[in-house]
Amino acid sequence: MDSDLSLDFLSVVEQAAIACAHTMGQGDRHKADQVAVEAMRRCMDSVPIDGTIVIGEGERDEAPMLFIGEKVGIAQRPEGKGISFPKVDIAVDPLEGTNLCATGAPNALAVLAASDEGGLLHAPDLYMEKLVVGPSSKNAVSLDAPVGENLRAIARCLERDVEDLVVVVLDRERHIQLIEDIRATGARIRLIGDGDLSAGIAAAVVGSGVHAVMGTGGAPEGVLTAAAMRCLNGEIFARLVVRKPKDEERSRAMGITDPKRIYTSMDLASGENIIFAATGVTDGALMKGVRFFGDGVRTSSLIMQSKPARIRFIDTIHVEQSRVVRVRF
Ligand code: FBP
Repeated sequence: MDSDLSLDFLSVVEQAAIACAHTMGQGDRHKADQVAVEAMRRCMDSVPIDGTIVIGEGERDEAPMLFIGEKVGIAQRPEGKGISFPKVDIAVDPLEGTNLCATGAPNALAVLAASDEGGLLHAPDLYMEKLVVGPSSKNAVSLDAPVGENLRAIARCLERDVEDLVVVVLDRERHIQLIEDIRATGARIRLIGDGDLSAGIAAAVVGSGVHAVMGTGGAPEGVLTAAAMRCLNGEIFARLVVRKPKDEERSRAMGITDPKRIYTSMDLASGENIIFAATGVTDGALMKGVRFFGDGVRTSSLIMQSKPARIRFIDTIHVEQSRVVRVRF
């Protein structure tokens, strides 16, 4: 896969973010998601690839677009017929944090990850236990270690006290025990309403003020986090939560034979060439949200690649054709 595709994927997440940012704070998470999906789908066919959605909006019969297995890219358009384009697998989350957008809360993102064919796990839409840490602590923790042991190891690696750490946890009833265990160590906690993907990215960025993400969230978000970790040199340890025979069946249907397996970023996003693209919908720690200003729109994005290893923060002003733009800082 050509790394220059990153700028094409940038446009895809920018357009999805702009579309749903119009609905920010309107209290309608389904509408916010729908417009993001439609904008992302429209833009996807301008990317010069023969693409397949491997993580998307659901199965073919439940999602009208960006469904798992859907073919996307210029290769699908009449002008692309007969031309050879790179085969690329794509994981999308057109709006990660639908509630965050609907309420105008921070950290909603439009996001996708791409890889050479076969380079992203086809994860079922189940929950996943996750532990996400940055580069310095990735060899010192384990998903099965007690919470206190992991936090002491992270503190040692970061040369600070456990009390100085900030751990992000989704504010859910299922995390009552986890939160108690973290509190017992003295570490600080940031409880978030949604958006464990943006928290995972923050955990791998020095200076973000986040040192780990712990707890159970969506498996698709886990694969996207893994793609980001491949580019940021952080790590995610993850295990599917398979409780019912139906979950096991769904996992098996997607090629997962050992549902208890602990995955790392290399297992979830194994492709040699990984591209990760995200645009802020609402303001966040690493990216600003979409800003509309009459004669244009300004977006803030993060584009990362594993090969060549490159991380870019891109600030774009999209100028309305008929207007004269006045650039401001
Ligand atoms: P949506 O974008 O689908 O609203 O998901 C947001 C999210 O908070 C993810 O970041 C997280 O992995 C997952 O939902 C957690 O699921 P649940 O809300 O069911 O606990």
